[in-house]
Amino acid sequence: MKDKLKIGLLGLGTVGSGVPTILKEHQEKIAQVTGMEIVIAKALVRDEDEKKRQAEKFDIQLTTDIDEIINDDEIKIIVELIGKVEPARTFITKALENGKHIVTANKDLLAQHGSELVALAQKNHCDLYYEASVAGGIPILRTIANSLAADNIQKVLGIVNGTTNYMLTQMVTAKKSYEQALKEAQELGFAESNPTNDVDGIDAAYKMVILSQFAFGMNISLDQVDTHGIRGLSLDDVEMAAHLGYEVKLIGSSEYNNGSIAVEVGPMLVAKTHPIASVRNEFNAVFLESSGVGESMYYGPGAGAKPTATSVVSDLITIAKNIRLGTTGHMFNSYSHDTEITEDKNINGKYYFSIEVPDKHGQILRLTQIMTEADVSFEQLVQQKSDGTRARIVAITHTITKEQMKRVASEIKKADGFKLLTIFKVLEDK
Ligand code: HSE
Repeated sequence: MKDKLKIGLLGLGTVGSGVPTILKEHQEKIAQVTGMEIVIAKALVRDEDEKKRQAEKFDIQLTTDIDEIINDDEIKIIVELIGKVEPARTFITKALENGKHIVTANKDLLAQHGSELVALAQKNHCDLYYEASVAGGIPILRTIANSLAADNIQKVLGIVNGTTNYMLTQMVTAKKSYEQALKEAQELGFAESNPTNDVDGIDAAYKMVILSQFAFGMNISLDQVDTHGIRGLSLDDVEMAAHLGYEVKLIGSSEYNNGSIAVEVGPMLVAKTHPIASVRNEFNAVFLESSGVGESMYYGPGAGAKPTATSVVSDLITIAKNIRLGTTGHMFNSYSHDTEITEDKNINGKYYFSIEVPDKHGQILRLTQIMTEADVSFEQLVQQKSDGTRARIVAITHTITKEQMKRVASEIKKADGFKLLTIFKVLEDK
């Protein structure tokens, strides 16, 4: 008979109910690798009646009182799956103060209060693991912290929001409307309870904050991520991108440059030949450029009950092993570096501009003048058929700085009769 390792589960929603499923389905293997039987002793829910059937199925005791879990001496690990900052932050703080180890999938919390919670875990010699907070079922944090510990990462590109990737795929391949695609992502359980965080890029920005900590050891705040979402994305741009050989993807990017990093989230044009362009639907991928390994990509489901619960249970297994070996209290990510943000004049990239102009002669000349004054040149230039009064011009620049891009944008906005519709960063395949 193996020793029992009792855990408390906070939340029995999509991922919450995936955890007992994985623990049950993979029971034998988990018991063999940990030397223990991991048992969910109690689960915190809002409404016991609503979750009664699930509780009976997995033989879990339900409670609506957090203290029943935090003050239970037999419970060694707390798995927090309620999401959002409060009350999760308060619950985890109290639990760490009570010497409980923590597993959480809460990216909102980790991105905004990670340093404080890591310090508290250290102070109380507790483990704090959060693999499931980034890219659901892809073991990317553990890969960066452990498998790539010897490497020097220069760039992280991620499709780290399943909802928007699902929406973009459906809008392009099945010609679904933005609203229809969002509704489906919600029904499939990928979207956040408030999908604003998905479509406005905030969920992806949280994940890029966490990835930047692991890849570069830098603690950036959310407002240091230049964040744009897909709300209002025009199908004209998506079609034009396809015509020019690109896919539009919501990309999170964190790039190292001489002691600093630039972190951005936004719709970008990705060359169809780039490995990340082929990532469809709710799938996520993290593409790394590093000096040792070179290019590597980690691909898998970024949301959903079983994939995310698998990451949660892997964290439980890590803690179980640490308890057995007496090695708890070490940080998930121990790499740390001074935090510095790259200035716009040192951020390089190609940019796609879509501009509406009056349909009369001399407009491309005016645009060329604006570009030339900012020392920017075109790589591609397309004028689309107009309705007789307004025309749309699409330009892709050669590599320029973000400072130049902003200068051009500001001049186009000021130019009489010009309307700046879109700016996307362009990612080429090397
Ligand atoms: N709403 C998130 C997504 C869930 O769509 O990726 C996983 O964090």
